[in-house]
Amino acid sequence: MDPMDGGMRYNPGSSDKDWDQAVTFLPASDNKKLEKKSGSGKVGVIVGLVILAAVLALIIGLLVWHFHFRKDLKLQKIYTGSLRITNEAFVDAYENPDSPEFKSLAKQVMIQLNSMYSESPLLSKYYVGSRVQAFSEGSVIAYYESDFAVPVGQEAAVDQGVSKLSDMYGSNKVRKLVEKPGALVFDHVVSSANLRFSQHTRGSEDEIIRSPGFPDKPYEPNSFVQWQLRGDPGYLLKLAFDTFNLEQNCSNDFVRVYDSLVANDKFLMAEKCGYYSPTDSPTFISSRNVMLVTLVTNEEGNYPGFRARITQIRPDSTELTCGGRLTGSSGSFQSPNFPNYYSPNTTCQWEIEVPVGKFVKLKFPKFLVSSGSSSSCPGDYVEIVGKSKLCGQQPANTMVTVNSNKMTVVFYSNSSHVDRGFSATFDAFEPTDPCPEMFQCDNKRCVKPTMRCDGWNDCGDSSDEKNCQCDSTMIQCRNGFCKPLFWQCDGVNDCGDNTDEMNCGCKAGEFKCSDVQCVSEKLKCDGNRDCKDGSDEEGCSREMSCTVSTYACSNKKCITKQNPQCDGQDDCGDNSDESSCNCGKKAFKSSRVVGGQDAIVGEFPWQVSLHVKNMAHVCGASIISERWLVTAAHCVQDDKIKFSQPGTWEAYLGLHTQKDKQTATKRLLKQIIPHPYYNAYTYDNDIALMELDSPVTFSDTIRPICLPSATDVFITGDVVTITGWGATREGGGGATVLQKAQVRIINDTVCNQLMTGQITSRMICAGVLTGGVDACQGDSGGPLAYFLNDRMYLAGVVSWGDGCARRNKPGIYTNVPKFRGWIKEKTGV
Ligand code: ARG
Repeated sequence: MDPMDGGMRYNPGSSDKDWDQAVTFLPASDNKKLEKKSGSGKVGVIVGLVILAAVLALIIGLLVWHFHFRKDLKLQKIYTGSLRITNEAFVDAYENPDSPEFKSLAKQVMIQLNSMYSESPLLSKYYVGSRVQAFSEGSVIAYYESDFAVPVGQEAAVDQGVSKLSDMYGSNKVRKLVEKPGALVFDHVVSSANLRFSQHTRGSEDEIIRSPGFPDKPYEPNSFVQWQLRGDPGYLLKLAFDTFNLEQNCSNDFVRVYDSLVANDKFLMAEKCGYYSPTDSPTFISSRNVMLVTLVTNEEGNYPGFRARITQIRPDSTELTCGGRLTGSSGSFQSPNFPNYYSPNTTCQWEIEVPVGKFVKLKFPKFLVSSGSSSSCPGDYVEIVGKSKLCGQQPANTMVTVNSNKMTVVFYSNSSHVDRGFSATFDAFEPTDPCPEMFQCDNKRCVKPTMRCDGWNDCGDSSDEKNCQCDSTMIQCRNGFCKPLFWQCDGVNDCGDNTDEMNCGCKAGEFKCSDVQCVSEKLKCDGNRDCKDGSDEEGCSREMSCTVSTYACSNKKCITKQNPQCDGQDDCGDNSDESSCNCGKKAFKSSRVVGGQDAIVGEFPWQVSLHVKNMAHVCGASIISERWLVTAAHCVQDDKIKFSQPGTWEAYLGLHTQKDKQTATKRLLKQIIPHPYYNAYTYDNDIALMELDSPVTFSDTIRPICLPSATDVFITGDVVTITGWGATREGGGGATVLQKAQVRIINDTVCNQLMTGQITSRMICAGVLTGGVDACQGDSGGPLAYFLNDRMYLAGVVSWGDGCARRNKPGIYTNVPKFRGWIKEKTGV
């Protein structure tokens, strides 16, 4: 899925997440195809045999190389550390590495280090040498780097050896390493987790780099790790993260990617932190055959870390080609590697030519080009030659036109800071009709005629909302705007001048319907639905014949009262509406989602985080009993990963922040039951059940949510709560701490219009139509909960949306009451 289109029918199975099963060898990008040549029979057979023999020899050779010589491949591991010399006093000359004093002390330190490493047979075997880099006061602290050439597979043993030595020489353990007069005395040696790996990707092989400990344990605090990556001459390196889960705050922990072998800011491609779902983890391409990746962590919060694959690609590979001549009446193009990060030092030029007599209009559906701090685009940019230069983040569908049938577009990236780039479309238009079949704004933009007078400022200068005649579905605001009628009296100032929120109360003797209509008090509970939404007949507790909108008791009685369950009253007479009420309550008395805020620990004890084993969070789910979870069917559809297999998943219960998954309750799954009528194209019936391999014990942080009854209905405008660890903005990374946000139920007819007829009765819409608050990628499967009788009920399951938090684009949720019978049948709950 386009990572910049977060949440658009996002299917966790739709991306390349199967590295655990991935083949180690990638086909070389310059493989030449063996072509069959026609020839006479015998010659053909002989040639065939020779080729076969050659291929066999090659394979054997490669295998021998792989298993024999590759074992000897060594990684260069560099530990940086410091040690304190207690019997020396600091002199100024130690600040100058060229001074004889510096050199002499450095030599002694090196002798001491050599002797220290020789104490460990393992370390001495792989030790190459050390360099002293600097001294500072105290008495004298020496800073050094020690090189080890470590055979593949021995890295962990060497790490251990080094940290053991550090412990042995730790504070207060005064040691004289070389027993001879005048030898240095140390009391503190720190060889921290400062590591440097050197890796060379060759030919068509991949290399994998991972943060130390990944995936078994979180990365170390206060560490600095770097990976110097090299490829063959003439190739570029592609670094693709498959898991990326760091602390949210880049000033604590971060990864930097450089287009260089050294950490030079001029070649810094990007700094990343936080969490990315496996489907939109970033991919970078270098501009030469080298790259440097660094991981810096501080003492707070240690997260799972990252894993990335490095492949070599040729500079002429298709993912990098750009520019050229584009003709015809319309077409499209994009920055290299879009929607992933373009390379530094890239220049592309497109020559667009539309039929003579027409003009060219260029539109950018997506535009993210790293710009530096100033608006004059000192960094990367897109130039429409002779017209304008664009950089930074531009609003969706930014448009540029030229009064000519030709347009030249140049994309330039400098040596540092890359971004996801852009996609562009061009169209020819008649000079006399710049907005064919569209409304032309005062600022010359063209917007769809349906956007005229729809209540939104689509032009940017509000010209599409001026001089409007509001139809019967709209409120006429005093300031001339029209706003959808169902926003009237909803507590939000939609007009801007509050017209829509005036005169909202009902007169004395009138009853206020849930949709803000007023009817005479006498009409309440008279057996007729006088309010359009029937709310005047709700809560009347009169028994009528069972209909779809009545609650069915175990004793076959039908209750007309809306949502009678767990309200403390025995409405059925057999108390069946008051049984199974041990749900939907948080333990404490205290009082991403996009546009949300951190949840409080234990506030949503039914929230579950579903991880693909050894990888990151992928979907949410809700606890409905000791054994059963409810999630979305689209989370459990097979892709390259077998999402439908229980063995793929780990469920974390009682989790608050993703970094604490070690302390949460983990369960494996016994079975997954997707709804049999789930439709992967329409997302209809997007619900699935998961059975845990062993039941959980409820606690303050693990509790079930209540299930609604099949007759529960949700009233337009009602406030509901969404929770999850999904992306906190469209195209963005996931949240570390569980997020919560409040949205409102949206009328299904309106929603079906907004979502171009894609809403079925198995879906509920909820959102904030002004935009900014919504579920997003990674929230799927999680709960849409409503509050009733002091408990929370599972109204919906996060299912899909058009982008995330876009205005007029509600989030779409599976309508849980519709599946109440099915849940009961499968789980007994
Ligand atoms: N399908 C997404 C997921 O798998 C959830 C999308 C919800 N989108 C929205 N705009 N409400 O995580």
